[in-house]
Amino acid sequence: MVLEQTHIVIENDTDILYARQKGRELALSLGFSTTDATLIATAISEVTRNIILYARHGEITLTPIEEEKRDGLVIVAHDDGPGIPDIGLAMQDGYSTGKSLGFGLPGARRLVDDFQITSELGVGTTITMAKWSN
Ligand SMILES: Nc1ncnc2c1ncn2[C@@H]1O[C@H](COP(=O)(O)OP(=O)(O)O)[C@@H](O)[C@H]1O
Ligand SMILES: [Mg+2]
Repeated sequence: MVLEQTHIVIENDTDILYARQKGRELALSLGFSTTDATLIATAISEVTRNIILYARHGEITLTPIEEEKRDGLVIVAHDDGPGIPDIGLAMQDGYSTGKSLGFGLPGARRLVDDFQITSELGVGTTITMAKWSN
């Protein structure tokens, strides 16, 4: 069962904080541990920060999912920005076209159970992540 979705427009640092907090709250309400809720919030921070840095604005959708044996949170971060020329490279630890550390995307991937990234040059980027309660 898909529960109510939360859409958050991402265009400034306050939106990042709000998305982070909302992800954390949803995770806790779904029964995730505080550790998992923090991991989810961190993954949300990374992909929303990338939206601001590289695409200027975008949105994130948080979807709680209840299944018979497990609950999950699906996080979709979408932007209509420049896209990523080489996803393989972008997913490598330490690769950054900015002045930052380049651990955002590979870090986020390690924090969740499912991670998918699609990107098209000049069209935008969509990152879909899911974490399951067990
Ligand atoms: N939403 C995005 N749109 C365009 N490029 C992106 C986006 N997210 C990430 N990238 C590219 O992928 C690279 C790696 O991202 P990341 O691992 O978060 O490292 P960092 O943000 O520290 O550079 C970025 O430097 C940037 O070139
Ligand atoms: Mg980053």
